[in-house]
Amino acid sequence: ALDITKLRGQSGAITLDPGYKNTGSCESAITFLDGEEGILRYRGYSIEELAEKADFLEVAYLLIFGELPNEAQLQKFNTDILDQSIVNEDMKTVLKGFPETAHPMGVLSSLTSALTAFNPKSVNVDSEEDMYKAIVKILAKFPVLAAWTLRKKNNQAFYNKDTNLGYVESLLKMMFQQDANKTYKLNKTVVNALDKLLILHADHEQNCSTSTVRIVGSSHAGLFASISAGVSALWGPLHGGANQAVIEMLEEIKADGGDTSKFIAKAKDKDDPFRLMGFGHRVYKNFDPRAKIIKKAADEVLGQLGVDDPILEIAKGLEKAALEDQYFIDRKLYPNVDFYSGIIYRAMGIPTEMFTVMFAVGRLPGWIAQWREMRLRKEPIGRPRQVYIGETHRKFKSLENR
Ligand code: ACO
Repeated sequence: ALDITKLRGQSGAITLDPGYKNTGSCESAITFLDGEEGILRYRGYSIEELAEKADFLEVAYLLIFGELPNEAQLQKFNTDILDQSIVNEDMKTVLKGFPETAHPMGVLSSLTSALTAFNPKSVNVDSEEDMYKAIVKILAKFPVLAAWTLRKKNNQAFYNKDTNLGYVESLLKMMFQQDANKTYKLNKTVVNALDKLLILHADHEQNCSTSTVRIVGSSHAGLFASISAGVSALWGPLHGGANQAVIEMLEEIKADGGDTSKFIAKAKDKDDPFRLMGFGHRVYKNFDPRAKIIKKAADEVLGQLGVDDPILEIAKGLEKAALEDQYFIDRKLYPNVDFYSGIIYRAMGIPTEMFTVMFAVGRLPGWIAQWREMRLRKEPIGRPRQVYIGETHRKFKSLENR
């Protein structure tokens, strides 16, 4: 038998914690999360209050710089972002090279990485001033790239930001305007709902994509490269990709006649890889406070937009059935942020494949804040160890002897 004590690293004992279930990777002053009680606060402010009273750009400022901005600070921040909102024309050439079938998240990650080529000075950020410049650049250009991933899918022209509009309004216009001249008719309900959704997604301490951003950034790879890696991590269905997977699951239940019990049984079956998408969370062992807000918002938004989506009723039925089921009770599995978010995106006319892109736009300030904190604290390069379980020393065999 393999004696792993003989294989350990030279620098003492190693803690093995697959998935980092109990391992803190850093100290952070950005987001407070109590999974037992279902509490989420950004810089000490409760998520419920921020979703109700703040707008997305204020929350972005709060997360990144630690304080709610006063009027002058907010105006400067907004102007600095607007000044950087033009994306280099050659980026359109990069985008045109993708097939229309490309998933928007793959395209977004690639474009974010490509930004480094067009903004080489944003790579080395040794002063706080350089850091600020890189931050406003990515905040300005990322929503443009996000909108363009949809335009690419729809084979439509790519437009830049309308600098007379707010952050969320201009994102919607870039996504949906028909042609260069046509003014896009903004719907206040849609703008407010998207603003709220982006706030609710803005940070969530050391989740998979944020840890990715911090670890990539810890090699001093640069902000845009770190964010691009974060987008890739978010794409997976166990993380941000769950919002797309939830709608696909609800559609499947609808097509199957609407009986949720069959899907609950499938989710409980350990021989079946199917999981109830939008359910369960690594940290929350209680209601995800964001899910509570989004569930309420889904009713309001669909009502105000006059959308009657049978999928909302299926989702509510599925939630009720799961919460009453012993399997879900024992494992403390509750709906997470993405159980109802897709229903709202859908009511706004956003295609399913774009849901995770919307999440990425929301999470951007969190990724930036965490990257900035990591750099300002001069954290060392992230480099976990392992417990080696492979072969011990083997003699090389030449090709003819294998
Ligand atoms: N459906 C059915 N069973 C589940 C689910 C689910 N959605 N989630 C967890 N379980 C079960 C597991 O099978 C496991 O059961 P066991 O103890 O009998 O083996 C137990 O609950 C614990 O689950 P783990 O996978 O160990 O929990 P972990 O913390 O590693 O995973 C995760 C958390 C990935 C979110 C998981 O709950 C999941 O896959 N959920 C569905 C995908 C999803 O909604 N992801 C979005 C998360 S929120 C976000 O990232 C924005």
